[in-house]
Amino acid sequence: MIDLAVFGTGRIGQVHTKNLAALPGVRVKYLVDPIASPAQDDLIRRTGAAIVEPDEVFADRNVAGVVIASSTDSHAKLLLDGVAAQKAIFCEKPISLDFSTVTKVAAAAEASALPVMLGFQRRYDPNFRAVRDRIADGTAGRLEQLVMHTRDPGPPSIAYVKVSGGMLRDQAIHDFDQARFMTAEEITSIYAVGNCQVDPEIGAAGDIDSLLVTMTIASGRMVQMSNNRRGPLGYDQRLEAHCANEVLFIDNRPQNDIRIAAASGLLSAPPMDYFIARFEIAYRAEMLAFVDMIRNGTKPLANVRDGLEAQRLAEAALISINTGHPVKLTPDWQP
Ligand SMILES: NC(=O)c1ccc[n+]([C@@H]2O[C@H](COP(=O)([O-])OP(=O)(O)OC[C@H]3O[C@@H](n4cnc5c(N)ncnc54)[C@H](O)[C@@H]3O)[C@@H](O)[C@H]2O)c1
Repeated sequence: MIDLAVFGTGRIGQVHTKNLAALPGVRVKYLVDPIASPAQDDLIRRTGAAIVEPDEVFADRNVAGVVIASSTDSHAKLLLDGVAAQKAIFCEKPISLDFSTVTKVAAAAEASALPVMLGFQRRYDPNFRAVRDRIADGTAGRLEQLVMHTRDPGPPSIAYVKVSGGMLRDQAIHDFDQARFMTAEEITSIYAVGNCQVDPEIGAAGDIDSLLVTMTIASGRMVQMSNNRRGPLGYDQRLEAHCANEVLFIDNRPQNDIRIAAASGLLSAPPMDYFIARFEIAYRAEMLAFVDMIRNGTKPLANVRDGLEAQRLAEAALISINTGHPVKLTPDWQP
């Protein structure tokens, strides 16, 4: 039996806890979250987990791994505590809102040689993975241009905007990660424009809601992403990989596969509601991979370095927006 602990019983903590609890030979022994809620009670009923303080988790030698799914401002300390306690770690993105803290935490995690996995679930989505594999094994030919769209169904609450690190470190970080995952290269220049067109209150809170980014790689390949906090279509999340032999498309997944034809035209179902529905399979695969990493030493598709590199791109994009100029990137570039 593998004993695990989950930090955070909010939106994503609930998803990870339920997925872990469904795996054979896995027990969620502890849940840590200072805020009680009906959802937390439900998780306790499903798993039999005890609600404890962090120290109890780190002191328990039988706990093989911890899942850090708590609010972003708690990740860095929990990750360092997990490393000190020699636990396998899964940490949600972003590692910290402060890039110098991200570099310190990543260095500590890498020096420990402990298995540490980052929460970039798109890497575990069967569609994203199949496209990446088709590029990586040469079938699609050389990837020349990658285009991505991420539009949320609606803007987050202002309270969330204030603590989440803003659109770049919170939402667009997944696209920055995909840029590296699909191209398997590091970005060398980035130019971004961003402003507020959806909700002026987001601007008043110091964030943006509309973003366009153009990135290039030393080999000449190009990546473009468009991000928005509003999707008239719902959760609109697509990718197009233009390669020498093939163009690979990842479309939205509809809520059902029924198409209705009538004299007025054709109707199909809207896209899956939001990320929890759209990436349901990916989240399950992610927790399976976390347990596989603990059991068999299998390398995760996203590690702490991937968390750092995606955030480096987010920080560079932010500087580009603020200065109006492209940012040249080197492996040791710091904001
Ligand atoms: N990879 C993804 O697809 C994905 C999706 C959603 C959220 N996230 C990330 O997951 C994290 C949580 O997001 P959420 O949407 O679930 O937020 P949430 O606000 O719904 O839940 C966060 C929970 O963490 C708890 N918490 C705060 N500090 C804690 C601490 N020190 N120890 C234990 N619990 C603590 C809060 O009480 C809350 O219940 C964020 O960092 C977010 O960026 C990732």
